Amino acid sequence: PVLVVDFGAQYAQLIARRVREASVYSEIVPHTITAEEVREKNPIGIVLSGGPSSVYEPGAPSLDEGILRLGVPTLGICYGFQVMAQQLGGEVAHTGHREYGATETTVRTDDDNALLGGQPDHQVTWMSHGDSVAIAPEGFQVLASTATTPVAAFANDEQGLYGVQWHPEVKHSEYGQDVIENFLHRAAGIPADWNSGNVIAEQVARIREQVGSGRVIAGLSGGVDSAVAAAIVHEAVGDQLVCVFVDHGLLRKDERRQVEVDYVAATGIRLVTVDAADTFLDALTGVSDPETKRKIIGREFIRAFESAERDLVAEAESDGQPIRFLVQGTLYPDVVESGGGTGTANIKSHHNVGGLPEDLQFELVEPLRTLFKDEVRAIGRELGLPEEIVGRQPFPGPGLGIRIVGEVTRDRLALLREADAIAREELSAAGLDQQIWQCPVVLLADVRSVGVQGDGRTYGHPIVLRPVSSEDAMTADWTRLPYDVLAKISNRITNEVPEVNRVVLDVTSKPPGTIEWE
Ligand code: XMP
Repeated sequence: PVLVVDFGAQYAQLIARRVREASVYSEIVPHTITAEEVREKNPIGIVLSGGPSSVYEPGAPSLDEGILRLGVPTLGICYGFQVMAQQLGGEVAHTGHREYGATETTVRTDDDNALLGGQPDHQVTWMSHGDSVAIAPEGFQVLASTATTPVAAFANDEQGLYGVQWHPEVKHSEYGQDVIENFLHRAAGIPADWNSGNVIAEQVARIREQVGSGRVIAGLSGGVDSAVAAAIVHEAVGDQLVCVFVDHGLLRKDERRQVEVDYVAATGIRLVTVDAADTFLDALTGVSDPETKRKIIGREFIRAFESAERDLVAEAESDGQPIRFLVQGTLYPDVVESGGGTGTANIKSHHNVGGLPEDLQFELVEPLRTLFKDEVRAIGRELGLPEEIVGRQPFPGPGLGIRIVGEVTRDRLALLREADAIAREELSAAGLDQQIWQCPVVLLADVRSVGVQGDGRTYGHPIVLRPVSSEDAMTADWTRLPYDVLAKISNRITNEVPEVNRVVLDVTSKPPGTIEWE
């Protein structure tokens, strides 16, 4: 792999993704990794990420000096660039000039310059630093500069060491992806040969080895991750897999059919649906508090899953092949973040996509553990899953239950389901699915406002549209949807959904708002 050394800023995941977009497999490792541990991973390249600190601050994240002497091609970015300069005998200084944001940069573009050759000699790069490299280490060529930073990039081709002060991984750096690809392919000579076909083949082999002839159970939520995870496992072990789908009555319009009919047709997976809508809705009666709702839904989900699981285990045991494995659609960001160890504040008790309890007596099969969301989608498509499932927006485990502000009732769910279906239909028709990360549609069931329709006064509820753009759901901005699309959605919802007489747009970023309302 290419190792991305994480100095504790939010950039490491982005760098890892950009490396993979260049068709090279990458893994994130903490900056505390030793040279020996790096050697054991046998990397073909190393990228040192940016970080929040100054290399001179007490307690600034450091790097084992042996790493730069391993002979592995290495690219330092921002803080990583400064760490490199400092360790190799260059000089990092407080210049007193802070560069932040889009910065005019002058670049040396001679042909033999593997990192920046062939690019325009003036370009906009995205900077965020206080300290600067004042003098490059001996044997290094300076490749770029800005008005206030004399050494904005350097290279030592013999040693395979490269660095840039700017952040090539962010889209605001005009030729950022070129820098990353040049480092990987030209400077380090790494071929672009990592793709979804390889990932599937690799995972299929790994799953077969892990599972042998054992039986496997998987929970399907209707979402992308659990659907793709189950499909890979099915590819590996066929009918040794059985899937459980809990219909909790909080699904979107058509969701159950997409799973029971389209998904099963595409995969041939054996599926058991648990009809639990009544149980869930009864348990939610009289409850308006968001955290209480989430806890009830999580608890009922576990109960429903466990009862299906007991039946299946009994059936499997009676023919001598007990179920020993459970599939989870855990993604790479979850793995990285839970390895971070600093413990983030509990903003909302996320009820996992599969929603499965941790104390089930199964060994976990996690075929997506090394993947990012967009990669999971690519693999789903490669496996032939229907676009309605692979291309769908993220949908929270607790479903429409946390999109009704107020008590969840059958009638309110019916209204929301219609409004949500209209919004999704119009956004897709306008070709906006790629631009939007997701668009929760929220019913403010406890709010009423006066309207007029025909000749009469109405006293109905507002529907909130919450379109957001995001790369990872950790931060988000509201999407600037075209007015005519908003107008059409508003018109249709107020005309077609009874008791809704107003449509409002949520124009809050995250933070301070979260994506969902509850
Ligand atoms: P928030 O509202 O926290 O949402 O900004 C971030 C992302 O997570 C989704 N979400 C959930 N997903 N179980 C899930 O599987 C949950 O309980 C849950 N709550 C929120 C949300 O839709 C968004 O994509």
